[in-house]
Amino acid sequence: MAPTAKTLTYLAQEKTLESSFVRDEEERPKVAYNEFSDEIPVISLAGIDEVDGRRREICEKIVEACENWGIFQVVDHGVDQQLVAEMTRLAKEFFALPPDEKLRFDMSGAKKGGFIVSSHLQDWREIVTYFSYPKRERDYSRWPDTPEGWRSVTEEYSDKVMGLACKLMEVLSEAMGLEKEGLSKACVDMDQKVVVNYYPKCPQPDLTLGLKRHTDPGTITLLLQDQVGGLQATRDNGKTWITVQPVEAAFVVNLGDHAHYLSNGRFKNADHQAVVNSNHSRLSIATFQNPAPNATVYPLKIREGEKPVMEEPITFAEMYRRKMSKDIEIARMKKLAK
Ligand code: SIN
Ligand code: FE2
Repeated sequence: MAPTAKTLTYLAQEKTLESSFVRDEEERPKVAYNEFSDEIPVISLAGIDEVDGRRREICEKIVEACENWGIFQVVDHGVDQQLVAEMTRLAKEFFALPPDEKLRFDMSGAKKGGFIVSSHLQDWREIVTYFSYPKRERDYSRWPDTPEGWRSVTEEYSDKVMGLACKLMEVLSEAMGLEKEGLSKACVDMDQKVVVNYYPKCPQPDLTLGLKRHTDPGTITLLLQDQVGGLQATRDNGKTWITVQPVEAAFVVNLGDHAHYLSNGRFKNADHQAVVNSNHSRLSIATFQNPAPNATVYPLKIREGEKPVMEEPITFAEMYRRKMSKDIEIARMKKLAK
């Protein structure tokens, strides 16, 4: 099968890994997909709206997790479990469609949303993505029309996850000494993008990754994952990898670069990746809450004695451009070094 194969359906049946997915040794997984660690905090949000009740305690836990990890899990988050189950069912059904059906939504060629295989980035994953906020930018022609119900369920899911993200951003704003809406306002007109990831079983999972090591560029990401396992984060300043223990009905919350910069480095931007395995396929749904492209990226609060972590205010679009060109440069240098 040619490396340009547009879905992973056939490659997943091979005995050996197609060479274009083989990663450099230092990038390969260090810890197994199912060697779970329970170090990442799991926080119940039950009572978060009770100002005189548990709110304070919950907020303290969230802030501590953001300072120490930049990644944590939330349960009792108020997003209806039936909606989550529906969303998961539809996503699974989408990826089980025949390749030609999925490729009706092919987004290669920089189309805004649809289906794509990340093989050009060496990632062992298929994705379907759609842009859900701001609402005026929804291009329904790029949203799958199959399986039936996709649009209505994904719209409701997007709304509910947006609500949860805003609630968490309020907590972070208050912790930074800002008004509740401080972080949302700094996003100007918040963007939301949903990426549904499907990682098929992989013939040689030790040689590749589902999604390479990265930090998310935006403010906050809410990730739903099934019980298979594969999300990994680092501790000890990036030296040690751990596999995040899947928790039923939880969202994994990741802070991105935007939150890191706006908090002047106080909140960590989670360093993470996804590994794959030969026993099970895996599904995850990432909802990215990003600032508008023209939003300013610069610390909102610089505490006494601290230096700003950025030299100058830049737009989010510029921050993103610099991040991507740095990645491209690193990849180019690696190729040259071979
Ligand atoms: C992501 O980082 O966007 C997804 C990670 C995962 O699938 O666990
Ligand atoms: Fe990510």
